[in-house]
Amino acid sequence: MALTREQSLIWQAMNIGPQWILRGEEDPLDDVASAKAAPAAASQAHGQTAVVRPTVSSTATPPARPAATIPVNARSPLANRNTRPAARTAPVAAPAPVLAQADFQLVEKVKTAQWDEIAKMVDACHACPMSSDRTHTVTADGAPGCPIVIVGEAPGRDEDIAGIPFVGKSGQLLTAILEAVGLTRKKDVAIVNVLKCRPPKNRNPKPDEIEACSHFLKRQLELLEPKVLLLMGSFAIQSVLGRMEAVSKLRNETYTVNIAGRDVPTIVSYHPSYLLRSLVEKEKGWHDVLRARKLLESLDKKQ
Ligand code: URA
Repeated sequence: MALTREQSLIWQAMNIGPQWILRGEEDPLDDVASAKAAPAAASQAHGQTAVVRPTVSSTATPPARPAATIPVNARSPLANRNTRPAARTAPVAAPAPVLAQADFQLVEKVKTAQWDEIAKMVDACHACPMSSDRTHTVTADGAPGCPIVIVGEAPGRDEDIAGIPFVGKSGQLLTAILEAVGLTRKKDVAIVNVLKCRPPKNRNPKPDEIEACSHFLKRQLELLEPKVLLLMGSFAIQSVLGRMEAVSKLRNETYTVNIAGRDVPTIVSYHPSYLLRSLVEKEKGWHDVLRARKLLESLDKKQ
């Protein structure tokens, strides 16, 4: 079967071969092709660019487009709001807040923490029961200076053991996809998660856990100052963008997330563990990462 060059690269990233490539195909990684196909420009040309703001910002700038005015701020755990648990006199039937009273000092410290202090602060956090089950906290891979920042969901078993995000099967796939488009972890890409501790049996994060961890992610994004943000999976999308729709509905657009006063172009994609389940979806995930790289290139060219 003859493949386009783009398909061939995807298949290589998935360890599928051998491959025959159609002659005369544009190389999707080629600069000229990427300039032509710059996703931001393309989606703008189709009037598709959705502007969602502010999510991380503390300002109350209204969204630029009504279509994207779903109450992002109200839904987003990263939005500024008072996270104090209900007073002790609150009705007894109210569910117990995950965040312990004693952690408010920590929450305050995180707001002004420097990058190197965050991991220690995460280690000191016992806001929810996951902290007693963890082997390691998982704070970040990469540091400020990485132009692309990926936000994932939560550590799994392998990450809990290693203390590093995305090192298990889904992480290996993510690393392979990044490498296939010429991006290197820690150099071009920093990775953080919504949750810093492993949920038991890899279950989905709960809303109160996301809330309890959100000050870490918020500060990480402020310090990382991403040029391009890539949100992988619905929990990252909900947490940072405040959008609840299916990933399949949200893909292929470029959003804007306001981080500490800076508008950051943002792409959403499937979570790598979902990509592991299907070749077709893997190809889509590959395209999203490629789109992030091209977006970064187009921004760098403008500078
Ligand atoms: N899945 C995630 O979302 N993050 C990790 O670090 C590992 C698996």
